[in-house]
Amino acid sequence: METKGAFNPEKDIPDLAGKVFSSQEVGTSGLGKQTILTLAKHGPKHIAFTGRNKKNADSVLSEVKKIAPHVETAYYECDQSSLASVNGAANAFLSTEPTRLDVLICNAGIMGGPMGLTKDGYEIQFGINFLAHTLFTKRFIPLLDRTATEFGEARVVNLTSSGYTMFPGPLSFDELKTTQKNIGMGGKWARYGQSKFAQVIFGSQLAKHYSNITVVSIHPGVVHTNLVEGQPFLDRIFVKMTTIGQSVPLEQGTYNTLWAATIPLQGSIESGSVYYPVGQHQKHTKAASDAGQWKRLWEWTEQQLE
Ligand SMILES: NC(=O)c1ccc[n+]([C@@H]2O[C@H](COP(=O)([O-])OP(=O)(O)OC[C@H]3O[C@@H](n4cnc5c(N)ncnc54)[C@H](OP(=O)(O)O)[C@@H]3O)[C@@H](O)[C@H]2O)c1
Repeated sequence: METKGAFNPEKDIPDLAGKVFSSQEVGTSGLGKQTILTLAKHGPKHIAFTGRNKKNADSVLSEVKKIAPHVETAYYECDQSSLASVNGAANAFLSTEPTRLDVLICNAGIMGGPMGLTKDGYEIQFGINFLAHTLFTKRFIPLLDRTATEFGEARVVNLTSSGYTMFPGPLSFDELKTTQKNIGMGGKWARYGQSKFAQVIFGSQLAKHYSNITVVSIHPGVVHTNLVEGQPFLDRIFVKMTTIGQSVPLEQGTYNTLWAATIPLQGSIESGSVYYPVGQHQKHTKAASDAGQWKRLWEWTEQQLE
C-alpha cells in the first residue's frame, strides 16, 4: 500500500487471524472504541481492553459480538489514575495465561482539565497519559518479547499528540509528584504536552532496549472526540481556533493507530519513531532528541514503578 497519507482500512489492514490485541481503555465515543470495532472486522483471535466504565464496556462487547461474533473479547476494569488499578488489570489479563500479545495499544488519555494529582501523587496528566501506560507496557514486556520470538514480531503503539512538540523540555523530575502549578506558560496545556513528550521519549528508549519489539508513537490527527468536546466552553473554543481546518471524522482519526498496529512491517516502520497521519515519519523535536533525557526518564520510571 501507499503509506504516505492514504489509508483504507478495508483494503490495507491485513487478515489478523490468530493475533491478540490489547487496547488500554475504551470509551463511549473515543478513538479507542472505534479502533476496537475496526480491528474486530479483520478477524483477530482476541481483543482485550481496559476502561473504567462497565456500561460503556458492555456496549463495546455487544457491538463487537454483532459485527464479529468469532472474535474473543475481554474487558478489564481499570482507572489509570491509580497504579494499583493498572496492576490489577494487568494481573487479571496475565492470569488468563495468554500465549501471545501481538499489539499493545496505549490509547487512554486526558487533556487539560483542572490541576490535580493521581491517587499515587503524580501530576494527573503525566500519571494517566504516561505512567499508567508505561506500567502496562512494563507488565506486558515479557509476553510481547515471547510473542516476538515465537511469532516474528510484537508492537507497542502509543497515542501521543502533536502537542508534544510544544514541550520545550527538559522534564523536571523533582516536580512530577506535584501539581506543577508553576510549569510556566500554558499551564494545563504544557502539562499535557509534557505527558505526551514523555510517551515519545520513553518509546524511543524502549525501542533501544527491546530491539525485537516495534515501538511507535503516533499522533492521530485532530478529532472532535470528548477530549475536545468535553472541555469547558472557553477551552473548547481555544482548541478549535488553534486547530481550525484540521479536524477529521472519528473513523479517520483511527487510521494512524490502525496503520501502526497492523501494517506489515517490511521496513515500513522505524521502531522508536513518531508518525503523523497516516504513516508519515516525523523527526523528533530537538528537545525529544536528547538521549540523556531518554535515559534519565527510563531510570526515573524504573524507580517509580519498581
Ligand atoms: N482527539 C484528538 O484530537 C487527539 C489528538 C491527539 C492525541 N489524541 C490522543 O488520543 C487518545 C484518545 O483520545 P480520544 O480523542 O479518543 O479522547 P476521548 O474520547 O476523551 O477518550 C479518552 C479515553 O480515555 C479514557 N480515560 C480517561 N481517563 C482515564 C482514566 N483515569 N482511566 C481509564 N481511562 C481513562 C476515557 O475513559 P472514560 O470514557 O471513562 O472517560 C476515554 O475513553 C488520547 O491519548 C489523546 O491524548 C487525541
